[in-house]
Amino acid sequence: ALKVRESRSIGLIIPDIENPFFPALVRGVEDAARQQGYAVILCNTDGKLEEEERYIRFLFSKQVDGILFTGGVDCDDSLGLLASLPIPVVALDRRAAAELSAVVCDNYQGGILAVEHLFEQGRKRIAFIGGPARSSSAIDRRRGFLDTHSRYGVVVNGRLMITGNYSFDSGYRAAVALMESREPFDAIFAANDMMAIGAIEALTEQGINIPDDVAVVGYDDIRMAGWYKPALTTVRQPVYEMGMAAVAMLLDQISGVRASACEEKFKPELIVRNSSGGRE
Ligand code: RIB
Repeated sequence: ALKVRESRSIGLIIPDIENPFFPALVRGVEDAARQQGYAVILCNTDGKLEEEERYIRFLFSKQVDGILFTGGVDCDDSLGLLASLPIPVVALDRRAAAELSAVVCDNYQGGILAVEHLFEQGRKRIAFIGGPARSSSAIDRRRGFLDTHSRYGVVVNGRLMITGNYSFDSGYRAAVALMESREPFDAIFAANDMMAIGAIEALTEQGINIPDDVAVVGYDDIRMAGWYKPALTTVRQPVYEMGMAAVAMLLDQISGVRASACEEKFKPELIVRNSSGGRE
């Protein structure tokens, strides 16, 4: 059985405090932890592997009772380190190796929802701005993009697939690269909202109209997605609930209720707004 350390604190490691997805996640974690008498130590890594490792060792040395972890670009290595610790760990928003528990949203299904919507809107040449190549959320959304093309019998143009890093800047740069490629496209599916908004900024600067010329779909449904002009069509993850569920899973493991690794998977939901021409 796991030894109960009883510092009544848990660590939460996130990759990007500037991405509005994470404040919502942190609120879910903190509210659930507070209800159970736990404090949360928040660590932001900027997606850097060396920061992840440093914080994992720091949290362990501070005797936290467990760790919630959302990794950055190369998080596979950190997941290995976490799996070797003698305290409970739950991966959050990232699928983890078999020996670690995880709370995720169905990113494959989310990718399907986005691309089906664009095909239903009559779009034929959909560009894809993906997330970090080794991140499980990015891999699953990309798979949803590709498989939906196969199902609709549409060949994917590799030149319309660009890898970003989930930041506004990378979305902006990806859209510039798409325009410079001179490959025609009438839609973009960006694997998160920050990249979608970055892409829209770059396109509109060049006089491209969203959604008349290019329809855009993002992912997450961060709060500003509804306020932004044009309001962003996106795939919603129930991020607050995911944060709460991760705490419940972690505390079950801390108290020994649950000993073996498990996964809880939430369902994504398509939110149709103006950027895809779906609603005026
Ligand atoms: O790392 C940031 C991204 O990962 C978020 O925008 C969200 O899509 C999550 O899955």
